[in-house]
Amino acid sequence: MADDATHAFKTAREEAYSTPLDQIDVSIGDRFADNTMWPFFERLRNEDPVHYTAESEFGPYWSVTRYHDIVAVETNHGVFSSEGSISIFDQQDDFQMPMFIAMDPPKHDAQRKVISPIVSPHNLAEMEPIIRERAGKILDELPIGEPFDWVDRVSIELTTQMLATLFDFPFEERRKLTYWSDLATTDMDGTMTQDEARAELIGCATYFQTLWQERQNAPPRNDLISMLAHGETTRDMPFMEFLGNLLLLIVGGNDTTRNSITGGLYAFNKYPDQLAKLRAKPELITSTVPEIIRWQTPVAHMRRTALSDIEFGGKQIKKGEKVVMWYVSGNRDETAIHDPEAFIIDRERPRQHLSFGFGIHRCVGNRLAEMQLRVVWEEILKRFPRIDIVEEPVRLKSCFLRAYRSMQVQIPERV
Ligand code: HEM
Repeated sequence: MADDATHAFKTAREEAYSTPLDQIDVSIGDRFADNTMWPFFERLRNEDPVHYTAESEFGPYWSVTRYHDIVAVETNHGVFSSEGSISIFDQQDDFQMPMFIAMDPPKHDAQRKVISPIVSPHNLAEMEPIIRERAGKILDELPIGEPFDWVDRVSIELTTQMLATLFDFPFEERRKLTYWSDLATTDMDGTMTQDEARAELIGCATYFQTLWQERQNAPPRNDLISMLAHGETTRDMPFMEFLGNLLLLIVGGNDTTRNSITGGLYAFNKYPDQLAKLRAKPELITSTVPEIIRWQTPVAHMRRTALSDIEFGGKQIKKGEKVVMWYVSGNRDETAIHDPEAFIIDRERPRQHLSFGFGIHRCVGNRLAEMQLRVVWEEILKRFPRIDIVEEPVRLKSCFLRAYRSMQVQIPERV
């Protein structure tokens, strides 16, 4: 297994450096599935940091691969717009789902403001004991001495429970949230036709409409549905915008945290000295969490669309062209982050990374995600001296989400 991985990395490196520069296409999903995209980004950062790919599965696009260039794109939202689509994929013309992540000011700002209180320090403090209790229960029920899928038993279960809490969603039906999130992000790997997938998403919106009506008729509460149902700029949303914003919140809070939980365990298995360091000094958890999120980079990219012609990084970007900001590359930029390949839990400036984006769209749930990861790791350390990964994880074939489909692990014993 290790030999296969080493061989794949070597081949990828050779390919990355022998392909003519203008033919490099970093959007190929297979490379994310086998985790061999790194040398392609390394070459672009060094040789062509603002790079044009004329032909790809997703049409022509620009790649921005350096940390500071990504920040420059993010902060110039007057030119680099989020309208339409925020990933390299385009929305289908006949099934547009507006959502505030894919809007520019002023509408974006107004809608974001409605849901921001969900992650106020007060709300986070209220949620922490619930998350801790639920995490503890999930961990206590794990089997000892036999392999199981960490993704399903821990990462999915925990994030789904948290999401159900945020929405005040019927708890027993919470796996519906996982299902809808996967449906919106993974294309179901061809197991469903487009029409079937759309029908399922409409089913999601219909389900939420009932909850929405309930909350609208009740006094405002501190859950996301109630906030949207009472918010001045969100309470009269058209149906597809309602669906879009719901999916944004489901996906935003689901895959990302889920893959950070899995990615953290994977990182600690690759760098056992860092786990030993954390066990010796548990207060390092506060810098460990952002390092896990940087190292994993659960959202590989965000995309913008140029609203006008602009010279950027010495290149001429034309109005209407796609500009893809590769966080996965910016987080490995050695000019911004010292020794970026390595997983180091006591970095001086651990929150300096791009995993949450930057600027006006910077992740609204970032503190919640960090709190959840901190709690999970605190509870893991209390219970298990070791968690062994028994085979390489299965990764998602996607250049958008750096996600794990499954990861078989085994826990030899409890503390
Ligand atoms: C480790 C976990 C997470 C990661 C890596 C992550 C990543 C991101 C990224 C990259 C963006 C876009 C930033 C940009 O364009 O500059 C974003 C936006 C967003 N995230 Fe997260 N996220 C995480 C957790 C969460 C959670 C727990 C929620 C909770 C509901 C959430 C809700 C959102 C929302 C609503 C937006 C849109 C913000 C806007 O457009 O103003 N995220 N997130």
